[in-house]
Amino acid sequence: MSGMERWRGRVALVTGASSGIGKEVAERLLDAGMKVVVTARRKERLQAMVDGREGLAIACDFRDTDAIEAMFAKVRQEWGGVDVLVNSAGLGRDAPLMTGATEHWREMIEVNLLALCVCTREAIGDMRERGDDGHVIHISSMAGHRVPPGSGVYSATKFAVRSLTEGLRQELRAAGSLCRVTSISPGFVETEFLEVFLEDVDEGKQAYADRGEGGALTAGDVAESVMHVLAAPASAEIHDVLMRPTRQVT
Ligand SMILES: NC(=O)c1ccc[n+]([C@@H]2O[C@H](COP(=O)([O-])OP(=O)(O)OC[C@H]3O[C@@H](n4cnc5c(N)ncnc54)[C@H](OP(=O)(O)O)[C@@H]3O)[C@@H](O)[C@H]2O)c1
Repeated sequence: MSGMERWRGRVALVTGASSGIGKEVAERLLDAGMKVVVTARRKERLQAMVDGREGLAIACDFRDTDAIEAMFAKVRQEWGGVDVLVNSAGLGRDAPLMTGATEHWREMIEVNLLALCVCTREAIGDMRERGDDGHVIHISSMAGHRVPPGSGVYSATKFAVRSLTEGLRQELRAAGSLCRVTSISPGFVETEFLEVFLEDVDEGKQAYADRGEGGALTAGDVAESVMHVLAAPASAEIHDVLMRPTRQVT
């Protein structure tokens, strides 16, 4: 079977699915005939997405690692485990190294880094028992390839994702597994990201508007890239995708 056909009827789990990139990815996977677990904190949004479709909405705060493990246990109970994991949950805070709040650093490290590791371990355990041919896709960032001013800690979490991608690839090959791992690093994307970063919905929306037409990728652009790497032949592992709005300079 080629392309997305081989994933039809199999189980995907998408983190950060209540908004932005994760939401667009989850929509496309549902449309492609996958059974999709959607997770984030805002349960109503998740439920609205899966109503009447082959989806499972599980609310989970990714700062609570016990809750993440309980979520995977529930997926095993309902659907036997996952075959595809898309790690999109994440956030940036305005928290420079010289003046930032420890709590903001902790939140970014816990959600962008620690929770991603826990989800990956839990999902890989399932995948190895379900054909050993699954796929883990991390939504990283161009901030994992250079440091935007004032974003030292956010960038650190995304630089770490590069290490986690290569580290997992090595472990999978050493174990003889045919599971694949991919990191996708977008530049600016118009989502709720800046609303969280600026801690103000209107200012966040305005900041995207100020970038003008074509100044940011859409969440759909990134979701298309996720579909592309998933649909690649099983013998081809796309390791790293860097993508910017065509007009982005840095
Ligand atoms: N937008 C950009 O310019 C951009 C660029 C490069 C990379 N990225 C990366 O893309 C990923 C998705 O971000 P986005 O742009 O789509 O932003 P977004 O619209 O703000 O979505 C972030 C998602 O993460 C979830 N999340 C945040 N904190 C969480 C927590 N404690 N527990 C569980 N879920 C949590 C949010 O859900 P709840 O609030 O409902 O929990 C939401 O679904 C992130 O990893 C981000 O770093 C974004």
